[in-house]
Amino acid sequence: MVFGGRYGAGFALIGVMAAAALGGSAAWLYASSANPPFADADRPELVARGAEIYQQRCASCHGVHLEGQKNWQHLNASGRLPAPPHDQTGHSWMHSDAQLIHLIKHSVADEAPPGYVSDMPAYEGVLPDRDIIAVIAYIKHSWPTGVRVYQALQNPDNAGMPATGKEDWRLPADCGAEPSRQ
Ligand code: HEC
Repeated sequence: MVFGGRYGAGFALIGVMAAAALGGSAAWLYASSANPPFADADRPELVARGAEIYQQRCASCHGVHLEGQKNWQHLNASGRLPAPPHDQTGHSWMHSDAQLIHLIKHSVADEAPPGYVSDMPAYEGVLPDRDIIAVIAYIKHSWPTGVRVYQALQNPDNAGMPATGKEDWRLPADCGAEPSRQ
């Protein structure tokens, strides 16, 4: 499985750093969240706030309906990648909440090879943590249950498992073990 997408390795460490950087800020938003904090897409007020911020800050590139830019998987005329969708047709759902927070705060350049140029802005110092969390909650809210379940499985303690997922989606403790043959 390729959780880091194009940028691959390093995300585990980044997740830890992102969680640490979040510290105790925006406590009101995290009040009902697990530790480390995650974007709770089952909180309607958080999703509504995220929708506003998304339309103001993200929709111009990622699409009014989260649909991304045309031919987003191919380099554009300037040799850069277009903005991917944030709905289930993209790959945002392959990232944990900590990874998404990191990507939004720092853009993708520091995950990419040296010299990589990206059109994704870095929002650290532009948007407060609570707004970044709200946007992620809005994005996650748009996903079908199965996709939300997959994404929640990337989070510590499966945080963000959707309330609509009635089944017990936790994986057995040894399911990641490599199959061995005698
Ligand atoms: C100026 C255009 C632009 C704006 C505005 C913008 N983005 Fe992006 N975003 C991009 C582009 C282009 C990429 C792909 C970058 C790459 O891979 O080089 C991207 C990538 C991302 C990714 C990484 C997706 C992945 O799985 O690799 C996330 C997450 C993201 N954007 C979230 C946001 C959010 C949230 C906002 C609003 C707060 C936002 N972006 C605003 C252009 C933009």
